[in-house]
Amino acid sequence: MTSTVIVGTQFGDEGKGKFVDMLSKDYDVIVRFQGGNNAGHTIVVDGKTYKFHLIPSGILYEDKSVIIGSGVVIDTKILCEEIESLEKKGHKITNLKIAGNAHAIMPWHIAIDNHEETKRKNKIGTTGRGIGPAYRSKAGRSDAIRMYDFLTEERLSERIYSILDNNKDYFNIIGFEDNADNIIKEYVKTAEKIRHLIFDGPEFINSELDKGRKVLLEGAQGTFLDIDHGTYPFVTSSNTVASSACAGSGIGPKRITDVIGIMKAYTTRVGEGQFPTELKDDTSKFLQEKGHEYGTTTGRPRRCGWLDLVMLKHSKNLNSLTEFIITKIDVLSGLKTLKICTEYMIYGNKTNIFPGDPYISDNAEPIYHEFKGWDEDITSIKRYDDLPENAKIYVEFISSYLNLPIKIVSVGPGRDQNIVL
Ligand code: GDP
Ligand code: IMO
Ligand code: MG
Repeated sequence: MTSTVIVGTQFGDEGKGKFVDMLSKDYDVIVRFQGGNNAGHTIVVDGKTYKFHLIPSGILYEDKSVIIGSGVVIDTKILCEEIESLEKKGHKITNLKIAGNAHAIMPWHIAIDNHEETKRKNKIGTTGRGIGPAYRSKAGRSDAIRMYDFLTEERLSERIYSILDNNKDYFNIIGFEDNADNIIKEYVKTAEKIRHLIFDGPEFINSELDKGRKVLLEGAQGTFLDIDHGTYPFVTSSNTVASSACAGSGIGPKRITDVIGIMKAYTTRVGEGQFPTELKDDTSKFLQEKGHEYGTTTGRPRRCGWLDLVMLKHSKNLNSLTEFIITKIDVLSGLKTLKICTEYMIYGNKTNIFPGDPYISDNAEPIYHEFKGWDEDITSIKRYDDLPENAKIYVEFISSYLNLPIKIVSVGPGRDQNIVL
């Protein structure tokens, strides 16, 4: 039995999609376990670029079972668009399933998300995809719609009428004016397209594990966007840490065998919130341009800064990482000096512990360890020994600080641009 979790160890966009795609070939079942279409995962295969928001990044292997798990919030219109776009590219989508107990993102969730973000004094910078309001409906238990409700027109219509009726005053205030009949007409059409995909996710995943099949659990976002453990309130509305893979797929914690952390060789963040090692200088521009650091979902420029090992040490604990994959090390070629944060100075005290209280971590001044850079283009290197000496020193420092083995050093966006250790 193998079930491997893949998580982002920083603020998202570490390159999870690339590695879910690449590693999927060795697994039988691929399950996305949380988040929604706030995620943006870019995969490059044979020069073709794919961008996924909802569909798990294992979809390019037609012989694998690919599941949108119970913990995901699903915008069914976006799902249909993604399926159509893949079909246009010549992929047959015969292997995708959706857990019936996953919740739906409905148009009012998007309206609420945008209304609240506009009103908020301290903006979060949400993706505007309705994620927070959809998870809130789920937790609220009165006004939620699950994928099971898409199974019949009656069930779906009943839910939509009831929710619009319960919330008419609030929907008026936020200017959400669409009427129930219109929404029902539209979503009944969507339901027809996806009804055959809805099934009992947990039952299937557990029975596959019982048969000895291998399951890959795909996380979205990153550890510091976790609703409980991230830089609250500048977080997303789901648990992004590895333990969420259990609840979000429907398997027990004893079934998880490995947890791979995806780590970018520097740090980026989209949206607002803490970022102790953020740079606002030429190095930041260098990383942004060379690393194409623009959000896959919203196109917003990503904030850039040095690698932060204090955060990553916390991430190792929060996720029980068993190994890590370092991505985008190629982007660092050409920088004379590189820096890695190994400690913070907070109110005159040094610490290597990431403070839980944002009032304290807001005042963290990074203390850096400096490294010599390298100039060589490393994007075609396949063997670890062929990396420039200074690149090896950089990577080995991270592994030794975290006391974690490196699984892969990624040197480009392509499926085969990897140094496997
Ligand atoms: P995800 O959200 O974690 O799946 O990451 P994104 O796809 O949003 O962002 C990562 C970006 O970096 C994508 O455009 C990838 O194609 C690209 N990428 C992944 N690994 C590497 C790498 O090692 N080097 C370079 N240059 N780009 C990479
Ligand atoms: P992937 O899977 C990076 C950020 C948003 C915002 C905050 C809350 O591609 O790594 P939300 O719309 O979720 O309520 O926004 O979270 N965010 C991401 N940042 N990568 C992502 O996903 C993200 N998903 C959400 O920018 O700051
Ligand atoms: Mg992304």
